[in-house]
Amino acid sequence: MATVRQLLDVGVVRLRESGSESARLDAELLLALALDTDRTGVIAHADAPVGDGAAARFAAAMDRRVAGEPVAYIRGVKEFHGLAFGVDPRALIPRPETELLVDLAELEVIRRLTGAPRPKGAPPLAVIDVGVGSGAVAVTLAVLLRRRRMLDEVALTATDTSEDALQLARENAVAHAVGDRIEFQNADLLPGEAVRTWDLVLANLPYVRSDAVPTLPIAVSFEPALALDGGPDGLRVIDRLLGLLPGALAHAGVAMLEIGGDQAVEMRALVAERLPGWSCEIELDLGRLPRVAILRRDA
Ligand SMILES: C[S@@+](CC[C@H](N)C(=O)[O-])C[C@H]1O[C@@H](n2cnc3c(N)ncnc32)[C@H](O)[C@@H]1O
Repeated sequence: MATVRQLLDVGVVRLRESGSESARLDAELLLALALDTDRTGVIAHADAPVGDGAAARFAAAMDRRVAGEPVAYIRGVKEFHGLAFGVDPRALIPRPETELLVDLAELEVIRRLTGAPRPKGAPPLAVIDVGVGSGAVAVTLAVLLRRRRMLDEVALTATDTSEDALQLARENAVAHAVGDRIEFQNADLLPGEAVRTWDLVLANLPYVRSDAVPTLPIAVSFEPALALDGGPDGLRVIDRLLGLLPGALAHAGVAMLEIGGDQAVEMRALVAERLPGWSCEIELDLGRLPRVAILRRDA
């Protein structure tokens, strides 16, 4: 019977040969999955024998990874902002860069709810996550606001044009006990109600240039094209959202839009063209790359 270390070593070599840049981490995570433990368990019990059932499960998971499938889809889970999200090919795997969008949104809500006294009976802040995907942004924000006991003062809506993504987002919302705190809607960008305005618009919409999509690592080809392809310049979907903001954003509202690390100049130019007089601040992510454009009409 092979030991944990032996299976791991063979797995690492196989993944390296298949081109994986994170072969050891991937092999550890997949062996942990097969053994129903975590990475620490794998590392701490390197000399333990592995039964036939677990060895077969590891082999099957390795076959999928060698074929290019992302580890997150094989495991069915991805950590985002310290929370476990169920993931599968119905939606994009949440990326760590997007945690910045959630942090900025949480700060904005805190600022608005605590900055000036709110009149008694004031309506809840209207917040929308456009292109909800797995629910990473809307669900995490709801969980963070619940921890601060601010969730009752916020009305959260989330849209997507993918019914599959919406279903996964609902599942993640229920798993984090905020299923009844987010209104999910199948809508092209914003819901159709003409009279509604939003205090905070959040969006991580597709922003990869169409010609760059086929050049991305093979793992990305397992994710929905609708979640990635932002048209010829990567900003076509975001551009349509910008066109809706003058009518949809409350007078003192804020829109926070995730962009690609190389899109700051194009984004500023697009905002200047579509929303003359509006301000466009760009926040950098932990890698010091432009990541979130913050738009206000108060420039
Ligand atoms: C880059 S993914 C982001 C998913 C999720 N917000 C996250 O951060 O992980 C973009 C999402 O936008 C959705 N989407 C694309 N075009 C859309 C549109 N016109 N209206 C609403 N959602 C759209 C896609 O289906 C996908 O779920």
